[in-house]
Parts: sequence; structure tokens; C-alpha cells
Amino acid sequence: MSGPAEISVLGICGSLRAASYNMAALRTAIELKPPGMTIAVADISAFPPYNEDVRVRGFPPVVETFRRQIKEADALLFATPEYNYSMPGVLKNAIDWASRPPDQPFAGKPVAIIGAGAGMAGTARAQYDLRRSCVFLDMHPLNKPEVLIGQAHTKFDAEGRLTDEAGRNFIRDLLLALADWTRLLGRKN
Ligand SMILES: Cc1cc2nc3c(=O)[nH]c(=O)nc-3n(C[C@H](O)[C@H](O)[C@H](O)COP(=O)(O)O)c2cc1C
Repeated sequence: MSGPAEISVLGICGSLRAASYNMAALRTAIELKPPGMTIAVADISAFPPYNEDVRVRGFPPVVETFRRQIKEADALLFATPEYNYSMPGVLKNAIDWASRPPDQPFAGKPVAIIGAGAGMAGTARAQYDLRRSCVFLDMHPLNKPEVLIGQAHTKFDAEGRLTDEAGRNFIRDLLLALADWTRLLGRKN
């Protein structure tokens, strides 16, 4: 008898810097993912600022690629920093580009969110703003566990490895919950 079908997850990081804690958290997710799950990471670094005049002439190739990756993924995993109590502009800009018609690719997607930041709140405010966009775009964000990695400089080592055991366990549990959530929503059997 064959096992359950593989779940493909697209990781989307809200930070572009090389030593990003959020990209490091996505790498941790790749390290800790359960059997039967794949995680690829999207590249949103070359997106132009959103411009409706450009959009009506056609999506830039980087946006087309991102839209296709979203469409093909069974689920999405956002990793976001908090910038001034909200999500970073680069992440919002990428979401805005991908969200435009026709066939906005976010609709119906199971979503999990993680975040790492300098402050005590561990990106909670950014994550809640991101959840509002998920609602408008008809995504299905997983409620729990929340993965809020506060004071990130104390939780990762110099190589960008998440050394905090509680954080690692939260990410492990989140991915298991995302796999269940994706199957429950009928995206995968
Ligand atoms: C423009 C900007 C705004 C920031 N605002 C916040 C904030 O509101 N709350 C917070 O905890 N950290 C804030 N920070 C600090 C970030 O949490 C920190 O730079 C974090 O490492 C960014 O994530 P990254 O390591 O993935 O790039 C801000 C950083 C920048 C550059």
C-alpha cells in the first residue's frame, strides 16, 4: 500500500539580507520537516515596486515565476521579520504583485507563519498583519502553534543555526500541523 502523497511547501521570506534570521528559520524548517514534505524557497529579491501601469502591460518574469510557484505548491510557509510593528515592505510588495488578477494564486492555500526578530514580541504584530492579508486573499492560515522567535540574536549561532530547543520544537510541531492542515483541507490525501 502506498503512503500519503508528498506535500510540497513554498517558503517565502520577508527579509533579503544574507544573514537573515528569518531565512535561517526557513533553513531550520527545511532541516526539521517531517517525512513526505518538501520545502523550496521563493526568491523575491528582484521584485520591482508594485506599479499598476506595469501590471496591465504584463507581470514581470520574476512575478510570473513566483505566481507559478505559489500555484504549484500545496502549502505556503511565510517567515517574516517585524518592521515598525508590521510586515516588511518587500514581503507586502511580493504579496501585492502575486495577488493581482487573473487567477490570484493564493486562494485556498494552507499557510503557516513563522517569524524571528530582535524584539520581545517575536514578530507577533507583523504576523497578525500578514494574517489579515491571508484573510483577504482567501488563504487558510494555520492558527497554532505560533512560532514567535523573539530576541533572535540569542537564539541563533554565528552560522545561523537555530540553537534554541523550544524554537526548534515549535517549528517541528508547526510543520506537522501544516501537513495535517493541508490534508484536512483536501489539498493532499
Ligand atoms: C526597518 C526596520 C524596522 C524594524 N522594526 C522592528 C519592530 O517593529 N519590531 C522588532 O522586534 N524588530 C524590528 N526591527 C529589528 C528586526 O527585528 C531585526 O532587524 C531582524 O533581525 C530582522 O529580521 P532578519 O534577521 O530576518 O533580517 C526592525 C528592523 C528594521 C530594519
